[in-house]
Amino acid sequence: MRLIACLALFATLCRASVEIITSLDQFYGTVNNFNATNPRYTVVKYFTNWCSHCKKLKPVFEELSNDPVLSEIEIIDPAVTSGIEFSFFEVDCELFGNMLCKRLSGFPAVEVIKPLRSELNVANLEDPRGWIDRLLDTITRAGYDSTWTLDVDRVVTFSGRRNLDVFERFIEAVVVSDQWDHVLELITNDKCSVDDGLCKSGREYFLKMKDEANFEGKIADLEHEIKTLEKVPESLMLEYMILNKLLELGSEQPLENDEL
Ligand SMILES: *[C@@H]1O[C@H](CO)[C@@H](O)[C@H](O)[C@H]1NC(C)=O
Repeated sequence: MRLIACLALFATLCRASVEIITSLDQFYGTVNNFNATNPRYTVVKYFTNWCSHCKKLKPVFEELSNDPVLSEIEIIDPAVTSGIEFSFFEVDCELFGNMLCKRLSGFPAVEVIKPLRSELNVANLEDPRGWIDRLLDTITRAGYDSTWTLDVDRVVTFSGRRNLDVFERFIEAVVVSDQWDHVLELITNDKCSVDDGLCKSGREYFLKMKDEANFEGKIADLEHEIKTLEKVPESLMLEYMILNKLLELGSEQPLENDEL
């Protein structure tokens, strides 16, 4: 059935499908591959053969990997000029339990791994393993690779009903908020590039608002306005995001605010 649906649609829509992970190089080579103009989000399903809910998830996850809805996700970050990519991974935790599945609390688990924001700096990485693993590696000379690392801040764990539409909304929310997060990082650190209009107008708004007070009230007003709109204009969304960022920055630095 799916094959027929795929043939009937454009071939590109059927491009993504689930890759079975067979090595750590395959996993980390994808998630740690940096490309600013064409970022890749990796959706990972962790499973074991003995888990019955994993079997139920399998067809849904496969459908998700071919889901045309994902190619319609809005691009907000002007740095993303070549579009967004997705990889779908399936990790057998009986094989990779010790390395890839260590932090999981149950099965099946689904995660989205956000793309790197800059090239992985291998020189600055500490070996995250315990001393026994390091010792074993020294003895067995298994060849540990320092790029086999993943910052947990890049991982967003799915929780909810494992239905296609819920997964679609989850992935879209992760991708959209990750892009806003990047734009806001540039705005607050004054790192907008010259031809990035969204970032620059955001910077202006940020500077205008940063010494104001009552961000909660302003956010509530905007939320009220947004609710009445069919389609939220990007400029309004930008203001909304910046006010939330200012609120967050304010609550992170209570001392500084007291000093003012
Ligand atoms: C990033 O992705 C684009 C589009 O696929 C490609 O043309 C470009 O060469 C990639 N850049 C790097 C640094 O790999």
